[in-house]
Amino acid sequence: MIVAPSLLAANFARLEREVLRASRSGADWLHLDIMDGHFVPNVSFGPGLVRALRPVTKLFFDAHLMCSRPEILLEPFARAGVNLITIHAELDKQVEPLLWKIRSLGLQCGLAINPPSPMRLVKPYLPVIDLLLVMTVNPGFGGQSFIHETVPKIQQAARWRSELNLGYRIEVDGGIVPETARECALAGADTFVSGTGLFAEPNMSAAVRKLRRAISTAPSAPSTPSTPSAPAAARKPPRRKPAR
Ligand code: DX5
Ligand code: ZN
Repeated sequence: MIVAPSLLAANFARLEREVLRASRSGADWLHLDIMDGHFVPNVSFGPGLVRALRPVTKLFFDAHLMCSRPEILLEPFARAGVNLITIHAELDKQVEPLLWKIRSLGLQCGLAINPPSPMRLVKPYLPVIDLLLVMTVNPGFGGQSFIHETVPKIQQAARWRSELNLGYRIEVDGGIVPETARECALAGADTFVSGTGLFAEPNMSAAVRKLRRAISTAPSAPSTPSTPSAPAAARKPPRRKPAR
């Protein structure tokens, strides 16, 4: 299982210390929510800030781009030192070239799906992604309540992963606290983003432990995919190179 605190919930007045706090908490990844004020009605931070924080920690940087034009941001974020970039399935026809571009930058690639969007949007890309992000709130803001109706999508993602014999991670993001994490783990999630649930806790290490305990004691918690950090690129290339 991967636990990924979302920096969006950190105290922005003391970001370096907040990243160190996450780094020492026993978390695995740092989730970076990138919002452009267009794809979602909020703005967060950009590659300059990520680059400044890169030397602070060895944590894996998991960048979640909630942006209408991710193509202009992929190279800057790659240069800033992120390890994985997730783009949204709602971008439709842009998805395949974007995934290809992320891969060509030597990064792992993820695909996110919003609560109202149908799972058929992600199905064609499952063989080429490292991570499927099932949004459990409508993106844009931290601190929202978990949407229980998204749980069947996690189950579907897990079913497809096993039927198609694929190894993508199933990440959940939004309203994740021990109880909802447990519900997601039961449905098949293995990667857990939590913003307020971790950064708002004075003792983040204890909060990470509590989250892990809730997940690992879920009756049929799935085992972590066997190649957690191997890029899908190493397993299977995209089926065809897009025109650009
Ligand atoms: C929502 C973001 C989430 C958010 C999660 O737009 O993608 O990563 O920071 O925050 P919490 O855990 O507070 O719901
Ligand atoms: Zn996110």
